[in-house]
Amino acid sequence: MARPVVSPLVPGRNLVLIGLMGSGKSTVGRLVAERLGRPFVDTDARIEAELGMSVAEVFARQGERAFRAAEAQAIRHVSALRGQVVAVGGGAVVDTDNVLHLKATGDVVLLEAAPAELAARVAGEGVAARPLLADGDDVEARLAALLAERAEAYRQAADVILDTSGRTAAEVVDDLLAWATGQPGLLAREEIPA
Ligand code: S3P
Repeated sequence: MARPVVSPLVPGRNLVLIGLMGSGKSTVGRLVAERLGRPFVDTDARIEAELGMSVAEVFARQGERAFRAAEAQAIRHVSALRGQVVAVGGGAVVDTDNVLHLKATGDVVLLEAAPAELAARVAGEGVAARPLLADGDDVEARLAALLAERAEAYRQAADVILDTSGRTAAEVVDDLLAWATGQPGLLAREEIPA
């Protein structure tokens, strides 16, 4: 029987992390990238470097539309390459064109947790950097509303859903790698744990 040829010279598909603010995309993404020896790309950080200001400043000075345009651009750039671990902002996959680009070269992992747990995580990091949460006093209610609005888009985009409730980042990394190992073409041969 013919076996799929996986050359060490051919990078695997991108591993793309999506989910609401506080779901752990950046933390888990950075750890997965370290384990696999892949570059880690956070599209929010890319936008900040490109525009020379923080995400909060982009929202305040130029508005959400300008941020979404920069986000779409960052997603097109990152999707042109393979072999990366990519974290995108929580609203990125609401735009179906962004999803098409991400899925063309990557497999998409949705990180989920209940709004109460997400709220506790973002409170630890400070909400000031997150303009969609900075205004309201009830962060948990705001996250629950965003989840209701986006749940369908998240599920449509996801190739797999990982429940991160009550789990440490290291445990989520193990779950993610166990899943990724079974996905054809996602990891290059030398990346697959023995
Ligand atoms: C947003 C999430 C943020 C950032 C921006 C908008 C959203 O990223 O892109 O503040 O619409 O959910 P994180 O999910 O990494 O916090």
